[in-house]
Amino acid sequence: MLRSFKLNSPVFAMGVSVFLCFIFCFSSVRVLAQTPPVFACDVRSNPNLSSFGFCNTTMGVNDRVSDLVKRLTLQEKIGFLVNAAGSVNRLGIPKYEWWSEALHGVSYVGPGTHFSSVVPGATSFPQVILTAASFNASLFEAIGKVVSTEARAMYNVGLAGLTYWSPNINIFRDPRWGRGQETPGEDPLLSSKYGSGYVKGLQQSDDGNPNALKVAACCKHYTAYDLDNWKGTDRYHFNAVVTKQDLDDTFQPPFKSCVLDGNVASVMCSYNQVNGKPTCADPDLLAGIIRSEWKLNGYIVSDCDSVDVLYNQQHYTKTPEEAAAKTILAGLDLNCGSFLGQHTEAAVKGGLLVESDVDKAISNNFATLMRLGFFDGDPRKGLYGKLGPKDVCTQENQELAREAARQGIVLLKNTKGSLPLSPTTIKTLAVIGPNANVTKTMIGNYEGTPCKYTTPLQGLIASVATTYQPGCSNVACSSADVDNAKNIAASADATVLVMGADQSIERESLDRNDLLLPGQQPLLITEVAKVAKGPVILIIMSGGGFDITFAKNDSKVTSILWVGYPGEAGGAAIADVIFGYYNPSGRLPMTWYPQSYVDKVPMTNMNMRPDTANGYPGRTYRFYTGDTVYSFGDGLSYSTFNHQLVKAPKLVSIPLEEDHVCRSSDCKSIDAFEQRCQNSIFDIHMKVQNTGLISGSHTVFLFSSPPFVHNSPQKHLISFEKVFLSGKGEAMVRFNVDVCKDLSVSDEVGSRKVAMGEHLLHVGTLKHSLTIRI
Ligand SMILES: *[C@@H]1O[C@H](CO)[C@@H](O)[C@H](O)[C@H]1NC(C)=O
Ligand SMILES: *[C@@H]1O[C@H](CO)[C@@H](O)[C@H](O)[C@H]1NC(C)=O
Ligand SMILES: *[C@@H]1O[C@H](CO)[C@@H](O)[C@H](O)[C@H]1NC(C)=O
Ligand SMILES: *[C@@H]1O[C@H](CO)[C@@H](O)[C@H](O)[C@H]1NC(C)=O
Ligand SMILES: *[C@@H]1O[C@H](CO)[C@@H](O)[C@H](O)[C@H]1NC(C)=O
Repeated sequence: MLRSFKLNSPVFAMGVSVFLCFIFCFSSVRVLAQTPPVFACDVRSNPNLSSFGFCNTTMGVNDRVSDLVKRLTLQEKIGFLVNAAGSVNRLGIPKYEWWSEALHGVSYVGPGTHFSSVVPGATSFPQVILTAASFNASLFEAIGKVVSTEARAMYNVGLAGLTYWSPNINIFRDPRWGRGQETPGEDPLLSSKYGSGYVKGLQQSDDGNPNALKVAACCKHYTAYDLDNWKGTDRYHFNAVVTKQDLDDTFQPPFKSCVLDGNVASVMCSYNQVNGKPTCADPDLLAGIIRSEWKLNGYIVSDCDSVDVLYNQQHYTKTPEEAAAKTILAGLDLNCGSFLGQHTEAAVKGGLLVESDVDKAISNNFATLMRLGFFDGDPRKGLYGKLGPKDVCTQENQELAREAARQGIVLLKNTKGSLPLSPTTIKTLAVIGPNANVTKTMIGNYEGTPCKYTTPLQGLIASVATTYQPGCSNVACSSADVDNAKNIAASADATVLVMGADQSIERESLDRNDLLLPGQQPLLITEVAKVAKGPVILIIMSGGGFDITFAKNDSKVTSILWVGYPGEAGGAAIADVIFGYYNPSGRLPMTWYPQSYVDKVPMTNMNMRPDTANGYPGRTYRFYTGDTVYSFGDGLSYSTFNHQLVKAPKLVSIPLEEDHVCRSSDCKSIDAFEQRCQNSIFDIHMKVQNTGLISGSHTVFLFSSPPFVHNSPQKHLISFEKVFLSGKGEAMVRFNVDVCKDLSVSDEVGSRKVAMGEHLLHVGTLKHSLTIRI
């Protein structure tokens, strides 16, 4: 999304001028100018509407939708195929803007949502990659719940929509990807848990009706989308060549889980092609998989404006009408952009599709709006009617933003005696770096206006006296003010360097070319560390990982923290960790590769698996065997934890039918069918101990290494659980493992198989061997 800017600037401009007129034209009005929410079936202004079936709340959604569709002309129907949906005055249907965003807080990206004097800001949570690093599934949902409450509150005063095109659950396949920051990282299981958790938090209604939606979420960008603009290849022209195996075990799982476990109301197809077909025009990917196989209850929307892109940029069809027909027939329901509004009528008239195809698409859109209560009359009388500006940026919500950042921050290096700093012995702190006192950098992209900011410097000053030198005028500084920085480090009891990236380095439409810290940052860090009087704490604020081997190796750099883009309260959370008010518990959701990796691997190569024939090293912890700077799951605590296996089977047999071929011959793997596995579910019980004195949370990762058949991953995460343990405390963690679901792998053609033989389960340094046989 966000080709958009060009596309939507007239809309933005219009919104602004309407808004200015609102203030200006009614400036004599003393009370805060509140706009009513947008909704249909306003029977108070038009009593005739009460006789329409689609406005009748006692009828079922499907009946109401077919009643509505029956009343529309073809031209009117086509107006409901685009994000700036048309109005039908005679039916009491106002214009509706489908495009709003809420990636990590209600956002102003997308024309459906605005801030004003009535609601000047919303709670801005950490950028997703940091929240994912918390590995705390209940946190993902808790954040979604706060965001949807703030969204409803803003909707009630006419500032926000009901349909949000978040979350972004693409796999963070390559560290250079500018949008990796928006995602939950490189692991399919974590991405699935994040996506379904956040979606539930956004969508789940207190209504009691499981079909009702608080707001509608959207999982994007379907599928195999994770390249924006790299060395002349951009997302609008990129054909992702993906094997069936990689599609099945890497790119699709988060989307499948989002639909099946999260019950998401929408999926967005991407700009790129997959194996020669634009995703938004691929009937197998849309109608086949999302609609039929996964049974999406909701709508499929295009990226903005990917239907235009597949015609005008990719030249996938000869005529625009053909593009309109192909996408709708493939299963697309809504077009972000105007393309379907312009070309669908001619496509119907030309016989490329029939009116009932259009009906099917708009019915999915209407059904979503019905579930949101859009056709139920004035929402201020409804379940969320009492929510308003007072419910946005509450103390509690802002505290959750701080808590989320604390839980995500990853401690990567900690020499004995470095962190936590004690505010009683550390009397002066030197704070250095281009990100030391940043505001907007902390909230990353797809941001909104935050309630307020606490910069790292402000967070640290709250505990001890500080001196401050930026050292670099910006993250990409071509010269560094090393001398002033050295001066303050040489005299302070401890030094904190806040370095890393910002949107000038990694963002939508901008992938990186290398993994080194930008500009003169390495020089500044090394020089300052040399002369510093006390401990040197290096903080990397970034979405993607960096090759910071020089700092990892430098004994003068005593601690390293990665803080993602930590959101509006980032500085407070950083201080909480540095001074030990919070014991760090975040773990890396992505591999940090050395610079040499990007010299070997073209970003355009989608393959996850290594290729020994040409030295291609593979991608992510599941396949890559080369050196890393830091690995997936890395993260230290101020305490230490110990795992002990209490219960786990050594042998699991899978029953096979009498005449199954593998009963007589030696099969390396068998098909993973649900029925077959019904009796192949077992429990693993672990005792987890905090062996230190400091309380803290700890994530227990359960990995499995299957036998090496079908080019399966060397290791993959099958479950994780975060527990809080007080000093010397212990807890029991139970994992429920389903052999067919959790221990199966994808074969070369994308079918799930259970490998026969020895599977190695890992928890920390503990290994347990489990044999699976028939
Ligand atoms: C209500 O219906 C009546 C009869 O069809 C019509 O005359 C009148 O204009 C309608 N009112 C509105 C507000 O549309
Ligand atoms: C609404 O629908 C219910 C159930 O079909 C029906 O009994 C009722 O008469 C309808 N109400 C109106 C105002 O048409
Ligand atoms: C730090 O940033 C804040 C917010 O932008 C600003 O008010 C303050 O003056 C800055 N502090 C220093 C020491 O530059
Ligand atoms: C870092 O240390 C490792 C292990 O001691 C060494 O192999 C490597 O060359 C060092 N790299 C740098 C950049 O100092
Ligand atoms: C997970 O997050 C929730 C919500 O912030 C928090 O209450 C809980 O303590 C966290 N769990 C752990 C183990 O840290």
